[in-house]
Amino acid sequence: MINIAILGFGIVGSGTAEVLTENKSIIEERLGCEYNIKYILDLRDFPDSPFASKVVHDFNIILNDPEVTVVAEMMGGSHPAYDFTKACLEAGKSVVTSNKEVVSTFGVELCALAAKNGVRYLFEASVGGGIPVIRPMTNDLKSNKINKIDGILNGTTNYILTSMRDSGATFSDALSEAQKLGYAEANPSADVDGIDAARKITILAALASGKLADPKTIHTEGITAITSEDTEFAQSLGYTIKLIGHAEIRDGKFIAFVSPRMVPLANPLSSIDGVFNGILIGANMVGDVMFYGPGAGKLPTASAVVADIIDIIENMDKDAKNYTWTAADAEDMLPMDEYSCRRMFIFKGKSLPCGFKAAKFCNNDDLSAAVTESEMTETEVKTLKTQYGDKLVCVYRVL
Ligand code: HSE
Repeated sequence: MINIAILGFGIVGSGTAEVLTENKSIIEERLGCEYNIKYILDLRDFPDSPFASKVVHDFNIILNDPEVTVVAEMMGGSHPAYDFTKACLEAGKSVVTSNKEVVSTFGVELCALAAKNGVRYLFEASVGGGIPVIRPMTNDLKSNKINKIDGILNGTTNYILTSMRDSGATFSDALSEAQKLGYAEANPSADVDGIDAARKITILAALASGKLADPKTIHTEGITAITSEDTEFAQSLGYTIKLIGHAEIRDGKFIAFVSPRMVPLANPLSSIDGVFNGILIGANMVGDVMFYGPGAGKLPTASAVVADIIDIIENMDKDAKNYTWTAADAEDMLPMDEYSCRRMFIFKGKSLPCGFKAAKFCNNDDLSAAVTESEMTETEVKTLKTQYGDKLVCVYRVL
């Protein structure tokens, strides 16, 4: 009998209990052994829940119970989630998590700690919600070098952008709806300011490069500055605006950043709408592969958490591996200023600066969009911004 403890009985924690219960017989049959949810740690009581009798408020009950060998951490935030994870790994318990903040901030240390203690630290649910992406990237693309990752990695912002585009919803109405549906982070700034996507792209970049960058140090832009004019321009020119986490590996160095991008309608990421996420991976042998599915939500995310629990139980008697990452430093990263791609410029007024040809005028003729044919670096864009001041309303990177 395998005893499992759940830390945090919020959306994903309660979903995990539900998946483990609802699919218990098929999972146990596949595993060839039985399991039991022994404890659920939360500050609150849940008297009406079928799991009420499992709820404890003291983490030490779990830590000091040698029967608990697998812990699923779904508390969110760095503390005490990191501290509890560390304590469990040191006590010889394997940990699975959906907590991208902890993985992206402390992943190097926690993976090494798991290896040192002969247990495992797995985090399939930390990127892409229910989409299997971390395990396939690690196992099934082993014969490849991964060169490039482009991902719609945040369900909340994709839901907001889709609602704004398709139903004319306001930003705040679309955000409230995403919160009601259980997609958004406790502090929605993590979603709309791109922080959540930054954490996820650093995790994916680490899987590809072996180096984990501090998500706080990578270039991160969210979706709060996107206007209905931008959306209109995008549509009329054959693009759609998506928040994209991008990573590229070149000559042993890598770059990772998050920003809104103009995605051409021919790119498969352009048709990923609502809470769905899509991750397009460019690898040197297979070419491009895309992972697609529900990027947030109770049961999809819990499905990925339980997949990790199953992986741990199945491999308990084997010498199963952990991720071996090192912390990325400035030397490992390509400077953002040198990043080059095509751009779309949005200018104020009809008289455009020399060298720019309007690709489209806005309905009220007060704005115009121009798309560059050639690539331009971030430094070149900065120079243009200084040159044109207020007249240059914004610049989008084209994917
Ligand atoms: N707030 C996150 C999102 C949850 O919207 O994608 C899943 O990580």
